[in-house]
Amino acid sequence: MDHFVIKDGIMHAEDVPLPAIAEAVGTPVYVYSRATLERHARVFREALDAVPEKLIAFAVKANPNLAVLRVLGAQGFGADVVSAGEMRRALKAGIEPEKIVFSGVGKTAVELEAALDSGIGQFNIESEEEGIELAALAVQRGIAASCALRVNPDVDAGTHDKISTGKADNKFGVPISEAERIFTALAKLEGMNLRGLAVHIGSQLADLAPLERAFGRLGTLIDTLRKQGHAITHVDLGGGLGVPYRKGEELPSPAEYGAMVAHVTRGWDAKLIFEPGRVIAGNAGVLLTRVVRVKRGISDPFVIVDAAMNDLARPALYGAWHDFEAVEPGTERMIANIVGPICETGDTFATGRECDALEAGALAVFRTAGAYGATMASSYNSRGFVAEVLVDGDRFAVVADRIDAGAIMDAERVPEWLD
Ligand code: LLP
Repeated sequence: MDHFVIKDGIMHAEDVPLPAIAEAVGTPVYVYSRATLERHARVFREALDAVPEKLIAFAVKANPNLAVLRVLGAQGFGADVVSAGEMRRALKAGIEPEKIVFSGVGKTAVELEAALDSGIGQFNIESEEEGIELAALAVQRGIAASCALRVNPDVDAGTHDKISTGKADNKFGVPISEAERIFTALAKLEGMNLRGLAVHIGSQLADLAPLERAFGRLGTLIDTLRKQGHAITHVDLGGGLGVPYRKGEELPSPAEYGAMVAHVTRGWDAKLIFEPGRVIAGNAGVLLTRVVRVKRGISDPFVIVDAAMNDLARPALYGAWHDFEAVEPGTERMIANIVGPICETGDTFATGRECDALEAGALAVFRTAGAYGATMASSYNSRGFVAEVLVDGDRFAVVADRIDAGAIMDAERVPEWLD
């Protein structure tokens, strides 16, 4: 459920009519709903009521905006980060360092040092090599790094190949067949407080079965490690729960996910960590755009909008579907190709899509753009970065300024020897 609904013929974000935001801030613009973020946070938390000890760490990569992180921090969420930049954002948003988990296959020494110095709660180590490097850095500081070993359970998550992470040939984690040996080797190191395991098999999962299989394999590994005398006190189950991108699409609910987790992890006697991203932020945001013009095609017309693949990359990158709706829909419908202004054919949001009839100047939204939207933007075609707005009831605020091509050029230099 979200708070982007038509009232008196006009789409609102909570109580704010979207044309008011377009007027004040311009388009394209990402619009987030605080009430929707809070609702999703509450639903996810309540779905895990049966889990006695837990930390829900929002996957910052899904939406790193400081205001969004502040809203979720206030809900008791921690942060799952994958770079020093994301860590700095989480800290700046007021999330306590102990609630920050650092994942990622390519953490650099500089990033590991920054995270040690910030006193984050947990490192999810993705290789033996990384563990050795981190332990040495911790020793230099006279501390021990709290860590979990990320395991690759070799499970096919059944999602898009580019966002699947738990198959044996994916780059993530250590192979489950080697996990016991690597855990034992790393646990011996000075500077290393290896206290648990982590897993994440992929994103936009439409089926709970692969997750259940992965968690089951982790459970077996926990037993084996404990029998060898290792203390396993923390287990990170990652993120991955999918969201409906199309009206009417059915996906496993947080409640079903929570019930499955409670069932598989009963008796684990460990603090569980969750890293949801999309399920919290996805449907809490839309990309508001204006139709530049409608161009007749050989078959279907092209609805050319002022948003493009640099603003919302998912359709071009993964062939992803985002519902496209008029802000002031009439009764007429049309079949159209929805495209952006960028000079490549990949800049296509939808082909042969039935949608509200639209004319030049009309406003429309791409739904479910609150996760992996603004954060994946680029400045391709020197289009700059779009603004972001957070709505709260009948008020709204710009939570990220539009960065235009001029500001980006300001960071560039022409060396004098080119004169
Ligand atoms: N934890 C780890 C270690 C992850 O790699 C990810 C996502 C998450 C948590 C959060 O997953 P979520 O709950 O959001 O599914 N750009 C792609 C998605 C990439 C996801 C990468 N990892 C997209 O637009 O669909």
